[in-house]
Amino acid sequence: MLEISGIKKSFDGTTVLNDISLEIGDSQIVSILGSSGGGKTTLLNIILGLLQPDSGKIVFNGSDITNTPMERRGFNIVFQDYALFPNLTAYKNIVYGLRNYPDRSSKEEIEALIDLLDLREHLNKKIDQLSGGQKQRVALARTMVMKPRILLLDEPLSALDGVIKESIKEKIVTIAKEFHLTTIIVTHDPEEALTISDKVLILNKGKIEQFAEPSEIIKNPKSQFVNDFILKQLEVKKNNIYKLFSL
Ligand SMILES: Nc1ncnc2c1ncn2[C@@H]1O[C@H](COP(=O)(O)OP(=O)(O)OP(=O)(O)O)[C@@H](O)[C@H]1O
Ligand SMILES: [Mg+2]
Repeated sequence: MLEISGIKKSFDGTTVLNDISLEIGDSQIVSILGSSGGGKTTLLNIILGLLQPDSGKIVFNGSDITNTPMERRGFNIVFQDYALFPNLTAYKNIVYGLRNYPDRSSKEEIEALIDLLDLREHLNKKIDQLSGGQKQRVALARTMVMKPRILLLDEPLSALDGVIKESIKEKIVTIAKEFHLTTIIVTHDPEEALTISDKVLILNKGKIEQFAEPSEIIKNPKSQFVNDFILKQLEVKKNNIYKLFSL
């Protein structure tokens, strides 16, 4: 269980996260949803240990890890821009983290992950010879071979669309459930958050608007922002499609 309590963070005197508290159970998939600049990446980086909060506490499985350095937390992230090594092949990117931890994944486990993510035919390609979706899957494999205790994903699907987006979405859920991984996914797409997650955290200007199961958010949006940001967006999408086909 990950317990986050009273997290505050400011940059240059501007509050970016204001008193963020939530609990995430083991093996849960949680989405962090909100508009651009709302503090999503900042919160993810604080959980990862890349950034220190100004105040507040993070407890993981009963231990206070607020001051534990990133390497010792055992969490791992897929960054918003993937941050792959352009000069290495897809395969070398995937196994890169294992050079210091060779026992973390066996050869068989690496092979299974490559097959699960449909990467076999791309292993010898350099990163810039890959499509966005392929890069995304390499980034996911590179993170997964490290067997993180918590998987953090920053906008993993934002560069993708259509069928590829749906297939990677499914793969993320499959991996999370198969590995019993606690997974935190940042997104600004309400549909993605509501379909992929056990619970959704809605952030607006550094404050929590609602933290609940998708069905609860749809039935009982807790604030005007939730209603406008989530439900109106979905409504607009639906209406556009209806209009398009004159339904
Ligand atoms: N290192 C930093 N120094 C100064 N300001 C920062 C820094 N990192 C983030 N900010 C500011 O904090 C606010 C929140 O940024 P953050 O990256 O967390 O937003 P976000 O919700 O992830 O947005 P997006 O959806 O656009 O990725 C923004 O106003 C941003 O300009
Ligand atoms: Mg961000």
